[in-house]
Amino acid sequence: MKTKKVNIKDIARLAEVSITTVSQVLNGKPMRISEEKRNLIIAIAKEEGYRANQVAKSLVTKETKTIGLIIPDIENAFFSSLAKAVEDAARKEGYLVLLMNSGDAHDQHMKVMDLLFSRQIDGLLMTVPNESYEASRQSELEEGLLKTQTPVVLVDRPMDLRGCDLVYFDNERGGYIATRHLIQQGYREIACITGPKGSINSDMRLEGYKKALIEFGIDYDPKRVVEGDYHFASGKCGVNTLIQEGVEFDAIFAFNDIMAFGAKELLMHIGIHNMGLMGYDYVYLSKILGERFNSVAQNSTLLGARAFELLLDRMMGRGGAEKVTLCLSPKLVTGNGSHGGSAY
Ligand code: RIB
Repeated sequence: MKTKKVNIKDIARLAEVSITTVSQVLNGKPMRISEEKRNLIIAIAKEEGYRANQVAKSLVTKETKTIGLIIPDIENAFFSSLAKAVEDAARKEGYLVLLMNSGDAHDQHMKVMDLLFSRQIDGLLMTVPNESYEASRQSELEEGLLKTQTPVVLVDRPMDLRGCDLVYFDNERGGYIATRHLIQQGYREIACITGPKGSINSDMRLEGYKKALIEFGIDYDPKRVVEGDYHFASGKCGVNTLIQEGVEFDAIFAFNDIMAFGAKELLMHIGIHNMGLMGYDYVYLSKILGERFNSVAQNSTLLGARAFELLLDRMMGRGGAEKVTLCLSPKLVTGNGSHGGSAY
């Protein structure tokens, strides 16, 4: 096991060439040198276990080939799939991804954002915490971004931030197609378990829900809307609240699959099996459940790939002066089939 780290100077000495020649050869730069010498340099580097010093290299090239990704909840399958998609796309372009979890908390998001900028990342992808939509926090986020020239692209949750491109799914459309499907299945008293207060995605899904009710002449009843927090327990609590308050409902639209799983568990526990149920996200677990599971697919693979494409354009200086906003279409998925085009 070699102890001393081999450097370019050692390789130059062993190959009896200059340090510049070794640097040019190992960085694949054009160089007038015999094939024999080139192969000798590469063989010595391999034999000696040479690893380029990326930190030293970045001081010269002014890039680290590293991007940051901040997501709100790494345990949520939607975000872990998004992270995988970003990492797959970034790796193809030779970038490393530094993944950070904000816990959907504004203060934690600010901390990890500053930490990533201090690591000289070349670009940042981030999903803004629901907490950050409060006016003073949004201003703080804006100020944090003004301190850096690093390109930033927002993913999944829309927010109008300084010079940040944005890619997200049309949440109002998603809420509308979900509710319309339940109505077309014959349900008329559809309850909602929403995302947390302040969640723009949740608010827009609720607008889509209301739009579908109006279209089919069904009155909106606020008692049928209970607040969740995108976690499993709030799906169970939501159903329990509706029952405790004596609300009449024949179907549940949960604003993500995880809450829909929670709602389903409670319904089965109390012996209710004929209730309509709709989730949102169409996460990996929903796909493998194999049963007739209704959801709205937000293709996180597509979302992650598009987000990285936007960021790469900015890092390469290819983006124009105007901010780019990509609004993608969610797709309805029912059971093992899919409606409205292929979800994946
Ligand atoms: O499941 C978490 C939810 O929050 C998803 O629907 C996604 O849109 C995120 O914003």
